Amino acid sequence: MTDRYAVVGNPIAHSKSPFIHTEFARQTGQDLQYERLLAPLDGFRATIENFRAAGGKGVNVTLPFKLEAFDLAQERSQRAADAQAVNTLKLDASTLYGDNTDGVGLLRDIESNLGFPIQGRSVLLMGAGGAAQGVVGPLLSVRPERLVIANRTEEKAQRLAQQFSVRGPLSASSYAAIAGQQFDLIINATSASLKALVPDLPEGIFARGALAYDMMYGKGTMPFLELARSQGAARVADGIGMLVEQAAESFFIWRGVRPQTRPVIAALQAQ
Ligand code: ATR
Repeated sequence: MTDRYAVVGNPIAHSKSPFIHTEFARQTGQDLQYERLLAPLDGFRATIENFRAAGGKGVNVTLPFKLEAFDLAQERSQRAADAQAVNTLKLDASTLYGDNTDGVGLLRDIESNLGFPIQGRSVLLMGAGGAAQGVVGPLLSVRPERLVIANRTEEKAQRLAQQFSVRGPLSASSYAAIAGQQFDLIINATSASLKALVPDLPEGIFARGALAYDMMYGKGTMPFLELARSQGAARVADGIGMLVEQAAESFFIWRGVRPQTRPVIAALQAQ
């Protein structure tokens, strides 16, 4: 019998996950089917339980259910505990296992696909919401020279920095207070790009050769990436590669096989 997987969210119609996982399955010869599930805002748990009862083997979880998925999981990885969020559930007969592949997806895209090793570099992380929370631990694990979390609401950046400060050279800031500093890697983990807005960055923060990375993808990222270019960033990237890499890690958790990500990233970029 063909194994069933799904991405669960609300809204979900525009999710690229079915395309990505179907490509992975074709490429690796895995017999699986991957669908979209729209969960009612008050019906995440029921949606998962129904899917499991119907033979579902795993789900990707997207907005706004990553916290609920964390609560629902009976076992969790350290990555999920760090992120306080789950984007991958494995549904076994005996247990519901929750993991979070967003952070490793970001690292693989930046370090492997874009060829930008983070060790020894200065890194600015913009934002202190769920998206930022998921990548602070992974970023520190690859030993940047320093990691600064800047957020519009500075207290949220401070709280996040406190939580991870034992793991590496981490500090929190407002946007205004980073004036005069320069960073090799600037990651936009805010949701501003959803509205095609850019946080209020001071000028001159992009170091020579800097990479600007938006964890969102598509048109809304243009204002940030254009601003980065105009201020001297040598390279810019949106989050399409991260999307495919986090999916590949989920696929590995479910199937024990690593798909090739590059052809899938290229196909999405061409769309
Ligand atoms: P997510 O899970 O996508 O991170 P979130 O938890 O709502 O969503 O967090 C959104 C993040 O984007 C926050 O860091 C938010 O800043 P505040 O904490 O100050 O609200 C940031 N954000 C959203 N719109 C923004 C904007 N126009 N300018 C700057 N920051 C913005």
